[in-house]
Amino acid sequence: MAGRSDTLMTLWSGRLEGGPAAELWAFTASLSVDRRMASDDVAGSRAHVRGLARGGLLTEDDAAALLAALDTVDGELAAGTFVFTATDEDVHTAVERRVTELAGPAGGRLHTGRSRNDQVATDLRLWAKRELAGVAMRVVALQEVLLERAEVAGETYLPGYTHLQRAQPVLLAHHLLAHGWALARDVDRLVDTRRRLDVSPLGAGALAGSSLPLDPVATAADLGFAAAFDNSLDAVSDRDFVAEALFDLALLGVHLSRIGEEVVLWSSAEFGFLRLADAWATGSSMLPQKKNPDVAELARGKSGRLIGHLTGLLVTLKGLPLAYNRDLQEDKEPLFDAVEQVNLALAAVVGLLATAEFDSARMEAAADEPETAAAAVDLAEWLVAAGMPFRDAHHVVAGLVRESSDGAASLAELVAAHPQLGPDATGLLAPGAAVRRRTTAGGAGPAPVAVELGTFAERLRLDRTRLGG
Ligand code: ARG
Repeated sequence: MAGRSDTLMTLWSGRLEGGPAAELWAFTASLSVDRRMASDDVAGSRAHVRGLARGGLLTEDDAAALLAALDTVDGELAAGTFVFTATDEDVHTAVERRVTELAGPAGGRLHTGRSRNDQVATDLRLWAKRELAGVAMRVVALQEVLLERAEVAGETYLPGYTHLQRAQPVLLAHHLLAHGWALARDVDRLVDTRRRLDVSPLGAGALAGSSLPLDPVATAADLGFAAAFDNSLDAVSDRDFVAEALFDLALLGVHLSRIGEEVVLWSSAEFGFLRLADAWATGSSMLPQKKNPDVAELARGKSGRLIGHLTGLLVTLKGLPLAYNRDLQEDKEPLFDAVEQVNLALAAVVGLLATAEFDSARMEAAADEPETAAAAVDLAEWLVAAGMPFRDAHHVVAGLVRESSDGAASLAELVAAHPQLGPDATGLLAPGAAVRRRTTAGGAGPAPVAVELGTFAERLRLDRTRLGG
């Protein structure tokens, strides 16, 4: 039943009689996924050809023919005219097949001293270097939106929450930048992962290096890698960089998820802290009145998939003996998908946040509601300033809040009547007073937030520079 195809000419068909079983092919071919690395495969092949030429392994004519063929392949890929065929097991096969069609017999020399094992690791590192930098730039673009919104927010304040219970008022700018700083760590991690993966595996061969005069250090430099591998076994079997990248993307996804969750909450009638722009909201197929925050929900929902990719790859890697195993082919799909999904999410969250309209009146009213007792800790600190131990002050104020919540008198009346607080202390209860009193460095009040805005802007400037944007 298993069909065998004699027309499938693989790179390895010499060893096996007849063609591969159709089901084997369907199960093992990876072209549909790894074709995304085609231009990286061309780049790696160019460097390999130049290395072969330096080692005297190619005549000048053969080297020229191979490089010209690689140029043509690159052009065809860029123009979208490159034709993949049913016999291309993977992108490496496709490029070598086309180069051989174009260059003639010289094509048969391209794979000298090279294995798909070092080739695929090289391609994926080139891909990841480029794409992780792209993700980091998109994160910076989102941070810029947060900064802009924070700058425009001025002294607008809202309740800050712990346990999702109103706790103390904070500036909206401070709240927005809290997400901005989390994203700054994401940028840091992406840059760091990129630095660690900047090592060329090319020249490791299948697993042990080569008998031919090849120079991995020179090809590494040719490809713009910071270094060449130190151990050929490690070079072909290490996928730490994929796991790290997936972790960076998963955590970035978690941060986007937390932003999404707040947008969902804040845009609800219960909170009413923001209104979504129509272009960034969705409707309901049945309920005519609905305006839904689907972008925010998907920003939250995608994190499950991203965490799954990380978990999946770690499980794939955990039992593998050295060196290359075909299991490693499972590294690319999660990485490609994670990068694609994160890029989509970043662009969507940028649009969502850039266009949402904050309702500062609602936010401030919520923060100032008497039952919030936003200034409770300020009342306690007033007593502390007068010499009372904080634990006692806490007890006194908690008693007043409890009494006022029983409805007998307002907190302001109780404060005014209290011997150690008195009418002067009621000023602490004035709208916005509590947030203005948060003066310590890194705190939520206008004075420290003015400094924070400058620090954050400077951080974005530095990140843009180091990412070359
Ligand atoms: N498609 C393979 C991968 O992604 C390329 C390497 C194949 N190597 C091998 N020895 N079969 O890992």
